[in-house]
Amino acid sequence: MTDFENVSAMLGSLQPREPVYCVYPHVYRKTAQEFLAGFPGRVLYAVKANNDPTVLQVLVAAGIEHFDCASLVEIEQVRDISHDAVCYFMNPVRLIGAARSAQEQHGVKHFVVDHVDGLATLVKEIDASRAVIFARMAVHHKSARWDLSTKFGAQPDDMPQLLQLIADHGAEPALAFNVGSVVMSPDAFVHSIEVTTKVLEQLPFQIRLVDIGGGYPKTYPGFEAPPIEDYFAAIRRAAQLLLKDGGELLAEPGRALSSPGLSAVTQVLLRKDDRLYLNDGMYGAFWELRFDVQDRFPVRAFRGHTAMTGDAQSFHLYGPTCDSGDAMPGKVMLPANIDVGDYIEFGLIGAYSLSGRTDFNGFYSDSVVTIDSASALPPA
Ligand SMILES: Cc1ncc(COP(=O)(O)O)c(C=O)c1O
Repeated sequence: MTDFENVSAMLGSLQPREPVYCVYPHVYRKTAQEFLAGFPGRVLYAVKANNDPTVLQVLVAAGIEHFDCASLVEIEQVRDISHDAVCYFMNPVRLIGAARSAQEQHGVKHFVVDHVDGLATLVKEIDASRAVIFARMAVHHKSARWDLSTKFGAQPDDMPQLLQLIADHGAEPALAFNVGSVVMSPDAFVHSIEVTTKVLEQLPFQIRLVDIGGGYPKTYPGFEAPPIEDYFAAIRRAAQLLLKDGGELLAEPGRALSSPGLSAVTQVLLRKDDRLYLNDGMYGAFWELRFDVQDRFPVRAFRGHTAMTGDAQSFHLYGPTCDSGDAMPGKVMLPANIDVGDYIEFGLIGAYSLSGRTDFNGFYSDSVVTIDSASALPPA
């Protein structure tokens, strides 16, 4: 891993022809510490948001000890970074044999199901008496930009039976839900916690762990999200009733922890009037833009290793592949004289970027560096 004091030093040294992804450890540290201090419970980082080894390492160093993993591979990626990290296998769908390997080889204790048949499959693979099994409940709220209740989750009415069956198998039953990703109102969590409270009232036993999932949004240019403190305050209030007899909340933030600390430095390959063609795009680190949440990231430009200043104008941005869909939806303001060979650094691009990039058309960069000066900040 190569360290640079700032992006200018990186550009001066590497003069890169391929995209370079810059990890700002101090930004990750601050983001993680704010979440750990504010969330009233246990914080599990959702590895799917960014599984880059450097990012995982930085999050571990920042105090993240628990990891929401969707596959055995993600569990192994976390294990490679930290032997003490606690991995939770929080996907109701797994490769056959994966749950057994997770429990036997990695000591994974926490699993999730959302259907009686899924539970039957899981308990054939693991020793249920050593496991906590979450029943995932489907919850829906209009403020979720990505609804995650259509694919996974049992209906609230079916939850008591599923939780009872988990207990009958000798595992500790627990409850999980995921309102969605980019959840634009804290009310979504309040509503889901209220539904959970009603489910738990029907049980003849107590539940110790309630996992309220991810979904905490970030503000991007042209896309304003409520501050994270509003979510923490609303969750804390709503959970008072839920946890009145003890118990613990868990959260699975992905975007909130991973988005601010990473930037992508790209190079301009072609300029046609107000259209810029870059060496990274919708098949690379920008793939999340196709989901119609935010439409652009904050930017700054460099010529050589010097930050560009001067009059700005708006540009359409395109990726390098042959696909005409490889076009970024939002226009961005950049220096009017920007040209071939100049660099553009995009900030706030740490979530759902590196973890989903492809090598379509042969464009793929694995160049990740760290920016270690605390005074260096990515575009925000
Ligand atoms: C089960 C689960 N947990 C956590 C997350 C993380 O969501 P976010 O990045 O919006 O916090 C997701 C996102 O898809 C998810 O499916």
